[in-house]
Amino acid sequence: MPSSSRRTFAIISHPDAGKTTLTEKLLYFGGAIHLAGEVKARGANRRARSDWMKIEQQRGISVTSSVMTFEREGVTFNLLDTPGHEDFSEDTYRTLTAVDSAVMVIDAARGIEAQTRKLFEVCRLRSVPIITFVNKVDREGRSPFELLDEIADVLALDVSPMSWPVGLGSDFQGVLDLATGRLSRPEGDSRTFQGKVEDAPALPENIAEEIELAQAGYAEFDVDAYRNGDLTPVYFGSALKDFGPAELIDALARHAPPPRPQPAEPAPIAPDNAEVTGFVFKVQANMDPQHRDRIAFMRLCSGTFKRGMKLTPTGHGKPIAVHSPILFFAQNREVADEAFPGDIIGIPNHGTLRVGDTLSERADVRFTGLPNFAPEILRRVALKDPTKTKQLRKALDDMAEEGVTQVFYPEIGSNWIIGVVGQLQLEVLLSRLEAEYKVDAGLEPAPFDTARWVSAEDAADLKAFTDLNRSAMARDRDGNPVFLAKTAWEVGYVADRYPKVKFAATRER
Ligand code: G4P
Repeated sequence: MPSSSRRTFAIISHPDAGKTTLTEKLLYFGGAIHLAGEVKARGANRRARSDWMKIEQQRGISVTSSVMTFEREGVTFNLLDTPGHEDFSEDTYRTLTAVDSAVMVIDAARGIEAQTRKLFEVCRLRSVPIITFVNKVDREGRSPFELLDEIADVLALDVSPMSWPVGLGSDFQGVLDLATGRLSRPEGDSRTFQGKVEDAPALPENIAEEIELAQAGYAEFDVDAYRNGDLTPVYFGSALKDFGPAELIDALARHAPPPRPQPAEPAPIAPDNAEVTGFVFKVQANMDPQHRDRIAFMRLCSGTFKRGMKLTPTGHGKPIAVHSPILFFAQNREVADEAFPGDIIGIPNHGTLRVGDTLSERADVRFTGLPNFAPEILRRVALKDPTKTKQLRKALDDMAEEGVTQVFYPEIGSNWIIGVVGQLQLEVLLSRLEAEYKVDAGLEPAPFDTARWVSAEDAADLKAFTDLNRSAMARDRDGNPVFLAKTAWEVGYVADRYPKVKFAATRER
């Protein structure tokens, strides 16, 4: 069954921990690229971005690399890129709904950082199992014990060290595989790993003691606990110096889960279900400004997809014949003839497919659990030319559909409010309003700081709440009621006063 040989995963990390370097090395050791530096160039590009042109370029580049597929020893790896830099957006969160596992990269000198933690929480929501890679042990860093304890405490996970660094920084003498007792050694001036392995190394006394303590003090690796999201195996290494990437590929192949049943209505869908089903987790629009073409990224959840197959989006639209699906092999986009559960297919379309859509042969299922996240930045949209109201509404709706921004229509007043999770989304919004919709608009501070979707079991309770808070009520693009709060504190305050009303920071699409 081809789906059992699929490993669909993402790398989560804080900027600078080494995600780009590790990605490049995974592709290299997985045999997908032969030139070091290709992924790196993209990382540098990302950091240098400052204006729309660069964002455009980045979008152009990132479509081929937002899914990277490589094969090794009969296993197909689909690595989904999550832009984890300051340009943190809902895209990142949603991509995590399309993976079966994740690799968490931590800088040995910094430990768990803010972004790692946020991304981890999203993984936890869906019980996505995590393999931890403590990177940069070739530099001075914190003690392995301190790092392991921090992961265990901050993330409330059992930790199970799988390897151990022999010295750090200038003392670095290699990485010991705790299961086999074999030591990978650095070589040459570059101090990289070039294949030198000692089977029965003589370890310095302090290191031998550390290892004894570690083996006694931490949980043994347990594949079920890992797959449940309760335990993380921890590998120490250096992506830059080639310590660890090969072990990570091996660990993903051996332990990471193949595609699992996906939550859906009326019932979860198992990968061996014969019918082809999948969901759209990302839409990349206007790749070519001349044609309003879009690529919808669909994760295949069951069945064997064949080129030309007709798939229907649940709830709206007619069947779409998928004649030129795109599969992603490393740097090249390739046209797919066949794909299996766990694979990602790019479907070109003219705006019919939306983030969160379920696609299937019969259109009677719907995948659940693709979240909208409460925005962390709210802005009022000020239109400079009032005759363009209709265009603005269309543009905001389109972009909300794509997941670029969220849009809220207040119950009172005509200034629409947009919400984003990261600052870059605002820049993208303004540039696209102008370039694609010819709408000249500005953004002003909104008198609100955060938003919550509200609901109640009894419609009367919800009505009582909304009637009294009309000036803070809005609707999202699907018409769901949203409470706009001035501060996070206010959310807590009203939640206490209206115990029958639920205030949700995420909403399933
Ligand atoms: P990111 O995608 O998570 O943001 O991180 P990236 O891979 O770009 O790595 C951030 C910096 O850390 C880079 O240095 C990179 O070379 C370095 N780095 C990554 N892995 C290791 C490692 O195992 N050991 C050491 N010592 N450094 C590592 P930079 O100076 O920002 O970039 P560059 O000028 O070296 O390209």
